[in-house]
Amino acid sequence: MSGNGVRHFLDLTDLEAVDLRQVLELSKQLKAKRKAGTEEKPLAGKSLAMVFDKPSTRTRVSFDLAMRQLGGETIMLTGAEMQLGRGESIADTARVLSRFVDAIMIRILSHEDLVELAANATVPVINGLTRISHPCQVMADVLTFEEHKGPITGRRVAWTGDANNVLASWIHAAHQFDFTINVATPKELSPRQALKEFVKRTKAKVHFTRDPDEAVEGVDCVITDTWVSMGDKEAERRHNLLKPYQVNAKLMGRANPGAVFMHCLPAHRGEEVTDEVMDGPQSVVFDEAENRLHAQKGILAWCLDKSGV
Ligand code: CP
Ligand code: NVA
Repeated sequence: MSGNGVRHFLDLTDLEAVDLRQVLELSKQLKAKRKAGTEEKPLAGKSLAMVFDKPSTRTRVSFDLAMRQLGGETIMLTGAEMQLGRGESIADTARVLSRFVDAIMIRILSHEDLVELAANATVPVINGLTRISHPCQVMADVLTFEEHKGPITGRRVAWTGDANNVLASWIHAAHQFDFTINVATPKELSPRQALKEFVKRTKAKVHFTRDPDEAVEGVDCVITDTWVSMGDKEAERRHNLLKPYQVNAKLMGRANPGAVFMHCLPAHRGEEVTDEVMDGPQSVVFDEAENRLHAQKGILAWCLDKSGV
């Protein structure tokens, strides 16, 4: 939330835990209404600008449909097609878009640019992924976990692989929803210092290790993501370092029986995850993808203060 009361959704750490829980409950209610055919149009007359500076399938389709299904409209923009691509400032772009639309969703690698956009916007700004975090994804992930395994509070999950933007939002979620996350990453690709400091400061239940077997032992959910995120360089080096962190049947076997496997997608089969796990009975990756739609609805309804829908 910004100083002037605008409900931005930039990071899971910006909201109170109670607000995040409210967003999740809204997502659950809106999903149930959609499935029952009783969905209403609480966002009628509202418009969302969607700015994509990087490719997207799930974020783009889910925000577009979420807005439309709730009665609102969307405008799709890409950085290169906007004057932003010719040097118009982020701040002026924020001021202009705020005169036209009721909310802005942006995917942009620079987290600083996201924050600057929000600082200059008078309408809610939603983080559709930066290099630093991917909060909308992890709201869908928590929703998916709870559908399959019950309340996440007090539970244990594991991350194995690259210490990227999705992991950062999982760590923020561990703090906010009060669960434990074991994180296995190679030394050379450890989490950023700021994330380690966040864990120290908040006493979030995060256990860092180099050993994927140790991380996964006895957890209810195993999570991974691509070894090369948008904007990453040195793909070959990353592949070599991350090979031991692959989620395969052997690693899944160390988790609790009934543990679920999650991946935000797109997946690189045969790299961070095997086909056997992706297509196996523990995989909930396509429920997770669908839940982007329902989670976006909860986020949009909260940002636009339609929390009573
Ligand atoms: N998981 C996710 O954000 O996917 P897209 O890059 O397709 O939006
Ligand atoms: N970590 C990945 C997530 C893609 C949805 C990336 O940033 O490219």
